Amino acid sequence: MAELTEQIAIVTGAGRGIGEAISKRLAALGATVVLVARNTARLAQVKREIENAGGRAETASVDLLHEGAIDTLAGFIKVRHGRCDILVNNAGIGAMGKPLHETAPGIWDAVMATNLRAPFLMIRALAPLMIAASRGHIINISSLAGHNPLRNGAAYAASKWGLNGLTYSVAEELRDFGIRVSAVAPGSVHTEFGGSGADDSWKIQPEDVANIVAMIVTQSPHSFVSEVLVRPARKR
Ligand SMILES: NC(=O)c1ccc[n+]([C@@H]2O[C@H](COP(=O)([O-])OP(=O)(O)OC[C@H]3O[C@@H](n4cnc5c(N)ncnc54)[C@H](OP(=O)(O)O)[C@@H]3O)[C@@H](O)[C@H]2O)c1
Repeated sequence: MAELTEQIAIVTGAGRGIGEAISKRLAALGATVVLVARNTARLAQVKREIENAGGRAETASVDLLHEGAIDTLAGFIKVRHGRCDILVNNAGIGAMGKPLHETAPGIWDAVMATNLRAPFLMIRALAPLMIAASRGHIINISSLAGHNPLRNGAAYAASKWGLNGLTYSVAEELRDFGIRVSAVAPGSVHTEFGGSGADDSWKIQPEDVANIVAMIVTQSPHSFVSEVLVRPARKR
């Protein structure tokens, strides 16, 4: 039997990039994966590919900026599955290229709402299901930009520094309930997020991040991984 059989995993930003790779990996391990993002066509495509590979997936078109939509999703998960074993808060947006003093407040708000408020809302909505079951994994996809200064990307860096603080703090709140909360902090990953350059072969692959998530959710029950920093093997 696959290691995650009968488990329900929710992955945000599952329509492409890192979230797609994580979803496929968790499905290959036997989980039923709820694919969350806004673009329904991309979600349907990922669902098809998971099913063609013998896995199970469902789609949920949700804009994570809307608290009500997140609460509706959590209600749906409760009624349909009655459990949430794994929550991967992966959806995120960048805002690079300008110093902070030239950054519009609307850009700041969008970055914070997507990268920091949405993981808060997802945890708020879904932790009760995990608490009821006395088990669960929450994995927040952070960034090395959550550890380092990022010139011309201060809003993004601040959101990921914030996400790390949220992760470590919530881990303390939930560990007594059997819920393990972790962060994964990659460097540059080859996705649409950072655009493409002349040679992207040096970048981390989305599947590399998925491997780390798979390792975290199959960790023995006596311990948990607080954070994994993932770097490209060679610099560009
Ligand atoms: N790529 C990198 O170099 C890198 C490095 C370190 C960390 N990260 C982090 O890794 C995560 C995934 O990045 P990625 O490279 O895979 O990015 P990506 O290819 O741009 O994918 C982002 C995903 O997030 C979803 N999303 C964005 N805003 C959303 C919203 N309001 N509601 C619902 N879904 C939303 C997008 O789907 P829709 O547009 O369809 O909603 C998409 O599926 C992000 O948190 C990013 O900060 C990336």
